[in-house]
Amino acid sequence: MSKIRVLSDQLANQIAAGEVVERPASVAKELVENAIDAGARRVVVDVEAGGRRLLRIADDGCGMTRDDAVLAFERHATSKISRAEDLNAIATLGFRGEALASIASVARVELVTKTEEAEAATRVLIEGGRMRDVKDAAHPKGTTITVRDLFFNIPARRKFLRSEATESFHLTNLVTHYALAHPEIAFTLTNNGRETLRAAPASDLRERAYQIFGAEFLENLLEVEGGHTSVALVCGFVSAPRERRTSRDAQYLFINGRYVRDRLVSRSLSEGYRAVLPHGVYPAALLFLDVPLEEVDVNVHPAKTEVRFRRAAAVSDAVRESVRAALASAGYARGIEAVHETVTPTRNAAQSTEWSGSEDSTFDMRDEAEGRYCQRTRRHPAPHSICIAGGRAGCRQRDCRSFHTRDD
Ligand SMILES: Nc1ncnc2c1ncn2[C@@H]1O[C@H](COP(=O)(O)OP(=O)(O)O)[C@@H](O)[C@H]1O
Ligand SMILES: [Mg+2]
Repeated sequence: MSKIRVLSDQLANQIAAGEVVERPASVAKELVENAIDAGARRVVVDVEAGGRRLLRIADDGCGMTRDDAVLAFERHATSKISRAEDLNAIATLGFRGEALASIASVARVELVTKTEEAEAATRVLIEGGRMRDVKDAAHPKGTTITVRDLFFNIPARRKFLRSEATESFHLTNLVTHYALAHPEIAFTLTNNGRETLRAAPASDLRERAYQIFGAEFLENLLEVEGGHTSVALVCGFVSAPRERRTSRDAQYLFINGRYVRDRLVSRSLSEGYRAVLPHGVYPAALLFLDVPLEEVDVNVHPAKTEVRFRRAAAVSDAVRESVRAALASAGYARGIEAVHETVTPTRNAAQSTEWSGSEDSTFDMRDEAEGRYCQRTRRHPAPHSICIAGGRAGCRQRDCRSFHTRDD
């Protein structure tokens, strides 16, 4: 008897969800990207219980016809590519056609959508991959997707979700990224009924950064503009060397409007600062790379969070030199000793189990994966990385006394 069998669509989707849906923020990423691809001018994100209980993304984009609304949940159903050649130059954020199918296989999903022309909106209910209902509904042009009870049917995955504070941090981080990448789109984020981010349509990145981070943050920023059209145009803002961070949390990096976690770009950014910032201290950055579509492969990761450059070394040079030029033109020439003197000595987190620095001291967090985030509180609105060593760490930031474990 043969042993090999073809898995059901349901199971295939759940397997794909293992890669695409890591946590609530990855669901939000897919849905916000869909809204942007649909030409939305306004994106509203509502979250409850760190996104485990509820995640709702509403947009005023092009919406879907009834047929498309049903088809959208099929595996590999996409309106964004149709031929193999399209993979060589992907201009949309999505293209794999597996996000909705994956998400719907591990949650209870309601989609309400309407195109400009349609008389009525369509409401599709789908739970754990099973289509429950399709009917007329009332909704303006655009789409609202509600994702409830993430991983309700996969207890093992549910267990891997972190604390509400951690998941909320990732959600806020995600929405902040997309709000920065698209100043022209209005963004709102509500967490447990409390509005945590609101940004009206802005004319450019500077105005959007002001809306999100405030005037003080902007004052320390230097404008970056460099690179080459054939390799990578680099633009955005980086912080002056006096702004020192102990993690890369304040680095917002984009490649062709896509939020990616790219080591090459973050490393090149640090190299640009080598002469003015010591190891283990990071600048804040809002950096946008414009790379010719055929020079970058975005189809290397199921969640599309990584890319591969055809000419990686040239991209790295472009980033490093653009950053150096921005620092130099603001008077921070290479090798300014005075900057070094003002830097708090760094510590290697891996070597100690106790963080004994003063409350505002910095430390060297060699392995970023070890960093965890403190709970956001009213008095302490910005999350910050903390030192985790030996599996447990005390956060000594002012007004924040919470303890975190590696699993927090
Ligand atoms: N918010 C939305 N507005 C309009 N169309 C959408 C929206 N979300 C999804 N779609 C449609 O559903 C299709 C499938 O979505 P998805 O599973 O995310 O795959 P992909 O984005 O890779 O195409 C998209 O190609 C798009 O046509
Ligand atoms: Mg998509």
